[in-house]
Amino acid sequence: MTNLHAPMQQSKLQNYNSPRGAEAYKADYGNKLHRKWSDKRERALLAGYFAEIGDVDSILDLPCGHGRLADFLKSRCKTLVEADWSFTMVSLNRGDHGDDGRRYFRASALEVPLPDRSVDVVLSFRLSHHLETQDLRERHLRELFRVAKKAVIVTWFSATSLKNLLRQVRVVLAGKKPKNVLRNERVRAVAAECGYTQRRARPLFRIGSGHVVGLFFRDGAAR
Ligand SMILES: C[S@@+](CC[C@H](N)C(=O)[O-])C[C@H]1O[C@@H](n2cnc3c(N)ncnc32)[C@H](O)[C@@H]1O
Repeated sequence: MTNLHAPMQQSKLQNYNSPRGAEAYKADYGNKLHRKWSDKRERALLAGYFAEIGDVDSILDLPCGHGRLADFLKSRCKTLVEADWSFTMVSLNRGDHGDDGRRYFRASALEVPLPDRSVDVVLSFRLSHHLETQDLRERHLRELFRVAKKAVIVTWFSATSLKNLLRQVRVVLAGKKPKNVLRNERVRAVAAECGYTQRRARPLFRIGSGHVVGLFFRDGAAR
């Protein structure tokens, strides 16, 4: 894999790829209050989005991490495809969730090794804000839209969120690193170029988080 395939900051990637880092990420969702809240809110949003999508044959979850959402997603499809750049995350996930109705592989979300429109729903949670350039964040979106047959559910860090506006002040006054953001209208424009329309774009939380969870439907796809 080259930097093109996995352009996240190297220290973060190494962490996700190490057994210790992968286990720590998993443990955070059991121990830390803010992680539990965001997990609960994400599931509530996803439940609403899947009520609109309906049950489907296949879902690709990329990056799947340790499979935080795996059982939730499996209950909405016949075949769940779990993929991540980190071998360690994929094997942790497989060890915890087994193979029944599930497939696992290592892949980059920037160059997904699947044909166009090969999976009904593609979901990509908590990756965009790790991608260091606008170009990579848009490339990520385009790959999701290419592979999905019906719908895409994706998170990004909103440029207009309160959290980002506050960060911009700290960038100027305290030399902080800028967030890896996307403007919501730019996400809609990329979706439109790929033949998709935005159906929902809900903030995870209005205060304390800049993440948006978007739902997009392929134009003209049967539902
Ligand atoms: C914050 S975790 C999110 C995992 C999962 N989506 C969740 O919400 O729990 C980020 C994940 O992205 C993976 N990752 C980093 N760069 C990637 C890339 N280019 N393609 C696919 N996965 C990547 C990491 O290995 C890690 O598992």
